[in-house]
Amino acid sequence: MNLLGIDIGGTGIKGAPVDLAAGRLRHERHRIDTPQPSTPEAVAAVVAEIVQHFGGAQRVGITFPGVVKHGVVSTAANVDKGWVNCDADGLFTAKTGLPVHVMNDADAAGVAEVRYGAGRGAKGVVLMVTLGTGIGTALFLDGKLVPNSELGHIEVRGKDAEKRASERVRETKELSWKRWGNAVGEYLGRLDALLSPDLFIIGGGVSKKADKFFPFIAKHTKVKVVPAELQNDAGIVGAALIAAEAV
Ligand code: BGC
Repeated sequence: MNLLGIDIGGTGIKGAPVDLAAGRLRHERHRIDTPQPSTPEAVAAVVAEIVQHFGGAQRVGITFPGVVKHGVVSTAANVDKGWVNCDADGLFTAKTGLPVHVMNDADAAGVAEVRYGAGRGAKGVVLMVTLGTGIGTALFLDGKLVPNSELGHIEVRGKDAEKRASERVRETKELSWKRWGNAVGEYLGRLDALLSPDLFIIGGGVSKKADKFFPFIAKHTKVKVVPAELQNDAGIVGAALIAAEAV
């Protein structure tokens, strides 16, 4: 089947055809800036453009940075609030004329890592944490996803965790690796206290620079922490995978 994965983020919308046998992209991804404001209509137009750019897709998986239950969005922390209660599956299907399956972005990235990357074969409780514009989480028990865990919004020191430890906070506040690494570590320590996971997988573009901030995490948790392996492609690959299996 010709599958296309599309990852909707706070700053960019990226898509590519996916090879599920290999767990990687078939072509270089196509990226378009996220329209501002990121209303459903404006984002759907960009999604349709990406689908046209590649052509020939039979099924499309799309990630969204909020809670998505059965194709309907219910939260939108870092995108236009017009998404709340939007039937995203219906909107994108109407715009593209193709069967579309929409899911939470961290869930998609986690599914890809557990199938093809850093969580391959991992048993027990695995928590993927994506550090980007916000913080996303994907929770697994013996490889099976518990969708929409939203643990980026637990409170740490009286603040929403993603307001202290997301990659965006590091950039906008120009935090040192040490300061930010400790904030990430403290956050993982809280998750450890709540869930006692067997493995943390850290995703998001910044996972490429794990050597810069992982050293500051160790003192906050004894749980094994590894960087994601599919990095920026995880969302696209996971979206296509979930779409393919959601028949
Ligand atoms: C949203 C999550 C999303 C994460 C990463 C959070 O603000 O609530 O649904 O997975 O950002 O985009």
